[in-house]
Amino acid sequence: MTYLSEDGSHEAVNARMSPQTPERLKQVMESLVHHLHDFIKDVRLTEAEWETAIAFLTQTGHMCSDTRQEFILLSDVLGVSMLVDAVNNRKPAGSTPSTVFGPFHVDGVPEREMGASISLDGKGEPCLFEGRVLDLDGNPIEGACVDVWSDNADGFYDVQQPDIQPQHNNRGIFRTGPDGRYWFTGIKPVSYPIPDNGPVGKMLGHLGRHPYRPAHMHFLITAPGYQRLITHTFVAGDPYLESDAVFAVKAPLITRFQERDASDGSPKWKAAYDFVLPPENSAEA
Ligand code: BEZ
Ligand code: FE
Repeated sequence: MTYLSEDGSHEAVNARMSPQTPERLKQVMESLVHHLHDFIKDVRLTEAEWETAIAFLTQTGHMCSDTRQEFILLSDVLGVSMLVDAVNNRKPAGSTPSTVFGPFHVDGVPEREMGASISLDGKGEPCLFEGRVLDLDGNPIEGACVDVWSDNADGFYDVQQPDIQPQHNNRGIFRTGPDGRYWFTGIKPVSYPIPDNGPVGKMLGHLGRHPYRPAHMHFLITAPGYQRLITHTFVAGDPYLESDAVFAVKAPLITRFQERDASDGSPKWKAAYDFVLPPENSAEA
């Protein structure tokens, strides 16, 4: 029997775990309790601060709904989402890096004909997105499903403005042919603030942090026999590249958006990017 004391606090808690506790759960909980107790001792958390933390977490929970996940937002702005991504996606050299999924992907988006436009509200500057889906040896991957989504020219996703934007605005799914190529017209994405009218936004304010994400296009690429890729391409030159509110920028994902002659009606911008997928069973880098 061990009573809890300041010195032996985490041992006292962890000793209560049943010997039947599954191995992985035991490992995770022991480490969590240990780090949490060390943190409290490290900063000598005051009772008022503890109460503030409880109130903050309570408000975070209250902010959650079917369309708003404030806890994921908290994880994102603390760099936790990107760290979980990093430790779980150690890819072989040459692979396209992954980044956060974000809360705005939706299932059930229509598969569109290659080359189609995903911009349904007619706002923004048209941009041709094109490239190939390749394996590690540079061979094209046929039948890859390229699921894309971005904000509109006002900086909102369709799901944030269901009464204003057409459903599936700036979303589409494209399937590659034998040459592994994809192309579609969207808009040149614009930077936007993550939802900041809740406790997470308030926390950012207290920390002197802005809520903006640099402009990006989201990609979810799947192909049989290859690892699933969740990533974005970022607009080179965006002022928020080095201060992304959710730490999701990786240098190889920064893409040049090339301005073109649009007098013949073709899109004013072009963003070319080839995605490289490692095989499903490949070893970690
Ligand atoms: C996004 O890129 O859609 C996103 C990612 C993390 C938090 C909020 C938005
Ligand atoms: Fe986004």
